[in-house]
Amino acid sequence: MRKNRFYITTPIYYVNDVPHIGHAYTTIAADILARYNRLKGRNVFFLTGTDEHGQKVDKAARERGRTPQEHADIMVENFRALWRKLNISNDAFIRTTDPGHKKIVREVLQRLFDKGEIVRRAYSGWYCTPDERFWTEKEITGGRCPECRRPVERIEEENYFFLMSKYQGRLIRYIEDNPSYILPETRRNEVLGFLKNNELGDLCISRPRSRLSWGVPLPFDEAFVAYVWFDALLNYYSATRYLSPAAGNGRDWWPAEHHLVGKDILTTHAVYWSTMLMALEWELPGNIFAHGWWTVNGEKMSKSLGNVVDPAATADKYGVDAFRYFLFREVPFGLDGDFSEEALAKRINTDLANDLGNLLSRTLSMIGKYRNGTIPAPVQDRDREGLEGRIRAWFPGESGTGLAAAIDGYLGRMQFHQALTHLWKFTGQINEYIAATVPWKEKDDDTLSNILYTLAESLRLLAVYLWPFMPGTADDIWAQIGIERKIGDLKLQEAGVWGRLKAGTRIRKGGALFPRIDLKTPRGGEVPSGDAAPAPPGKSGVKGAGKDNLITIHDFAKVQIKIGRVLRAERIEGSEKLIRLRVDTGEGRQIVAGIARSYTPEELVGKKIAVVTNLKPAKLMGVESQGMLLAASDSSGELSILIPDRDIKEGSVVK
Ligand code: MSP
Repeated sequence: MRKNRFYITTPIYYVNDVPHIGHAYTTIAADILARYNRLKGRNVFFLTGTDEHGQKVDKAARERGRTPQEHADIMVENFRALWRKLNISNDAFIRTTDPGHKKIVREVLQRLFDKGEIVRRAYSGWYCTPDERFWTEKEITGGRCPECRRPVERIEEENYFFLMSKYQGRLIRYIEDNPSYILPETRRNEVLGFLKNNELGDLCISRPRSRLSWGVPLPFDEAFVAYVWFDALLNYYSATRYLSPAAGNGRDWWPAEHHLVGKDILTTHAVYWSTMLMALEWELPGNIFAHGWWTVNGEKMSKSLGNVVDPAATADKYGVDAFRYFLFREVPFGLDGDFSEEALAKRINTDLANDLGNLLSRTLSMIGKYRNGTIPAPVQDRDREGLEGRIRAWFPGESGTGLAAAIDGYLGRMQFHQALTHLWKFTGQINEYIAATVPWKEKDDDTLSNILYTLAESLRLLAVYLWPFMPGTADDIWAQIGIERKIGDLKLQEAGVWGRLKAGTRIRKGGALFPRIDLKTPRGGEVPSGDAAPAPPGKSGVKGAGKDNLITIHDFAKVQIKIGRVLRAERIEGSEKLIRLRVDTGEGRQIVAGIARSYTPEELVGKKIAVVTNLKPAKLMGVESQGMLLAASDSSGELSILIPDRDIKEGSVVK
């Protein structure tokens, strides 16, 4: 790895249509990595752009009565505007119609031609016009394209070929010797399987101008233009020659560290691009990462179904950072995922409004109330319970340890989802810290100062690590804490160290970070899935109850509530909210409760609690729950479990 330079790319997007969630997905992924690497102090070049030549664009332009260039000039603005809206920090934006790019494409073509890597040949094959690809006799089925299932045409013509086949063995060896060249591993195995079981052909890299004129003319034969993929793939290199900032130390930006792509365009990258680079005798990129595809409400996204997710509209409706967060928290990068507004709204309410937003607002309210809006100085020797030590243990003081190391490891492997899960574990721990220290009851001034400082400092640091994912929110957290500087102006080495928050800083409490979304559709009375907390009573309405929402005594009698004693309690791994309880309610039973934010397992053991004992068993995170404990929740999400006023035997019935 080239320590101080980090070059990352997205695919360049076709300007035949408007941007959708798939385009936003890759671009935000690259943005997260670019921001994180800048924070680490690396010299970053983050490239995105548009693919403007070829049949698709030509056709789209014709349909709208425009020249392809006019069409591209109009459509490119949709991408630029979207990246501004989504807070994308790309360093350059390449268009394949840029003169600088076209010049390099021609130079490369000439070089390969001079080296004998490109030859002219008669060719006949089956051509799929929409996909702009030739297929062999064996590949087509029933006269249709094996990829898009549309009819193919027989075409016979002279064309230029890149002699790709001769690199087959070398490419297999390269992929085998470099385990992280293609990721995720399942995709790597697919590419290897394909290369080992098929004979690689040569690649037709020209189109006769008589059939398609919208492309870069071949320098050695102006009767042809370059195949759009040959032109497009070269953007990754050409941008380093005319669009990049200085790489430093007289070095080049090439090769890229990561090409992020969708799974459908992995072959063009792993096979065409890799072999083109081998023929050019240029270095190969560090890694090609193929992510999965989004479906929408369980269906394939398509224009004909009318379910294409517009990233700009979604960001307008739910907030840019909520959208960014959702895409990377919901689904591991590399796997397919499903988008729905309901799932997005749920994430906003639980993770963002509750866990994060409430934490900030409670902390700042307490600093407002108890310290007149000024961050107090910490008093280290007042950590009487060792509780603060547990928070500080996430920041041992060196950048290679604790939270820093975990996030670095996850982002180095492009495990965005794990990185966010880890950050929410930390958030959960800060929330637990509030529950354990009960600052509003603290009488000792020094201890209270210590608690309040710890909370504010934890939030400051949390924001630093959230910044690559949610830059606007992270800066907002800093601004509300009262910090003048912007996270992006600092480096992890200075900003990521415990204790940098200055005592005496005046907080500037603002509005809620994430307003809650009103989930109109009730959840149907089912047990909440995943690790959602139990719905507070009275929120979702009672099925079968009249308009006035009243139930009869008979309705109530259906619910059996008993007193139980907690015998054992432990957190459920992988969940921030769930605790598994062994309870004696006259008979032993296991209960899973979403109360880990407000209670530690230790403090639950021995408590007498109220349990609904005739609920149908349900599984939460794979663990069976045989009942539900009763707890009240206030508007901040803080829970209080119901406890009998007098000592009463376990198994007693509540009526
Ligand atoms: N122009 C080529 C790329 C050339 S790169 C040298 C291209 N452009 S595209 O606009 O059609 O697609 C861009 C990206 O969108 C691809 O990475 C593709 O995987 C991605 N997606 C298209 N639909 C998608 C989803 N439904 N979900 C996630 N990504 C999807 O291909």
